[in-house]
Amino acid sequence: MLVPAAAVSAGGCAWDGPMSTLIARSDVARDVLDLYALITWASIVIAVVVFGVLGYALLRFRDRPGAPLPPQTQGHPWLEIAWTIGPALILLLIAVPTVQVVFRTQIQAKPPDALEVVVRGHQWWWEFSYPGLDVVTANEFVVPAGRPVYFALEGPDVLHSFWVPKFGGKRDVVPGRRNAITVVPDTPGEYWGQCAEFCGASHANMGFRVVVATPADFDRWLAAQRAPAVDAGAAVAAGKALFAGSACVGCHTVRGVSTGVLGPDLTHFGSRRTLGAGLFPNALEPLAEWVRDAPRLKPGVKMPAFAYTDEQARALAAYLLSLE
Ligand code: CUA
Repeated sequence: MLVPAAAVSAGGCAWDGPMSTLIARSDVARDVLDLYALITWASIVIAVVVFGVLGYALLRFRDRPGAPLPPQTQGHPWLEIAWTIGPALILLLIAVPTVQVVFRTQIQAKPPDALEVVVRGHQWWWEFSYPGLDVVTANEFVVPAGRPVYFALEGPDVLHSFWVPKFGGKRDVVPGRRNAITVVPDTPGEYWGQCAEFCGASHANMGFRVVVATPADFDRWLAAQRAPAVDAGAAVAAGKALFAGSACVGCHTVRGVSTGVLGPDLTHFGSRRTLGAGLFPNALEPLAEWVRDAPRLKPGVKMPAFAYTDEQARALAAYLLSLE
């Protein structure tokens, strides 16, 4: 039983999988990984010495005819001093860098040149806003490479935890209190994040994506996000009318159309790659299904099912996807 169990567990591991903590793509992740490497190597050296001596004693003095008796001693001050000072030195070797990294990664103040992103953990989706820049998005956001990003974490409902494995540093999102973490992402690319604190039925479905862009691409993205919602005209007019005339507007903002705040801001929904906090590709078919019966697709989701016809659901989906 152990062998298949180990095989199945190992199957979940991937050195460079999207959720790997062994690949560092920020200063914080590098600090933590270096510490991890130091402790791992120290442990390996200790294990080799301890098991080496143990193995030698077991073999050399095993019970057999004519076996030698090890020298019998009682009390050995120098040995005792050595095995007190040795472990103390090893602990010091581990403790000093650990404390340094803990303090460096726990700074709560915002560095002067940092980009601030306010992260709000909701059951079960993420809201990202950029104070002073007039940008609000959900479940997907973009930051520039090479510049400190100050994540200010808040939440209106229960405990969540903000975690981008390749950025390092899981941090709790606590209602009524503002936690923060500053990282400098250094490599452009798309990174996966995940809520890392059990928060109810769809905790496992509370993922998100971070795109680390070059500064120029980041500026382009900002400009596109700040623009008013596009109006694709006649092609999606039916969907827009349906959206504006139904319960959608009570929970969702599309700037210029509606002002709801209970669910994700959809002003530039069509620019996102995923749907439902990283659950599905953001495309017509899954979206049409989502607007009709989100609870079937995501357990516990606050959005109810709606009695749209096929045609209505597709029109609504087409409209939402046009909001690039
Ligand atoms: Cu939010 Cu788990």
